[in-house]
Amino acid sequence: MSGITIALAKGRLQDASLALFRKSGINLPEGVLDSRRLLVEDDSNQYNFIFVKPGDVPIYVEYGVADAGICGRDVLMESASDVHEPLDLRFGYCRLVLAGKPESAARGYNPLVAARVATKYPRLTADYFQRHGVPVELIVLSGSVELAAVLGLAHHIVDLVETGRTLRDNGLVVIDTIAESTARLIVNRASYHLKRTRVMDLISLLRDGVKNFNQPGSSQLEGSSAGKPIQQ
Ligand code: PRP
Repeated sequence: MSGITIALAKGRLQDASLALFRKSGINLPEGVLDSRRLLVEDDSNQYNFIFVKPGDVPIYVEYGVADAGICGRDVLMESASDVHEPLDLRFGYCRLVLAGKPESAARGYNPLVAARVATKYPRLTADYFQRHGVPVELIVLSGSVELAAVLGLAHHIVDLVETGRTLRDNGLVVIDTIAESTARLIVNRASYHLKRTRVMDLISLLRDGVKNFNQPGSSQLEGSSAGKPIQQ
């Protein structure tokens, strides 16, 4: 592999990430996304893309297998990876929230009783409850976290809210917002220095792509998963 390797998160952020690369003049060969290939070179042969689970993006970047990556701030905070974060890409807005059934929201916490909380974000959840001085028992799940509150596996959940539809459709409500998130460009610390020119080129291309996207009259990134870019 030559050039710069970029790790992209499959799922929620993938379409908008690729749309941003297209706007920035970096294109993947026709039809390649219809295949199951996990490693793809762009048309100019300057960029290699790898497609990985969102939570794995910071790991590939921290260990230098990828020079750069795109992932949500939520994932970045949870991983606490040692990477550069040079650019807020301003798409994929969502919130990490504490949620539960309306009755549990109304009841509040009993500081003498450990709250049982289901989540995909154990580190951020533990931090949150520690800040509030409430003991917590964590149940770590890997998806469909809302079910845990619906079925009584946990008193509360800590999970992402994007449109709010999943909470609403399952009769749950937001109790508190823990963090806001948008997609971030992250860069491996060694690549930042050793491949400085190429990394700076990439940052500048994407910065222009983001600016164009946010100019009045420009259309949304096709496939962007959330409508609310963070204002800077
Ligand atoms: C995420 C998140 C919520 C849902 C929120 O799940 O964990 O379940 O999206 O989106 P909404 O507010 O627009 O309804 P995802 O789709 O990534 O699947 P998962 O539950 O398997 O993690």
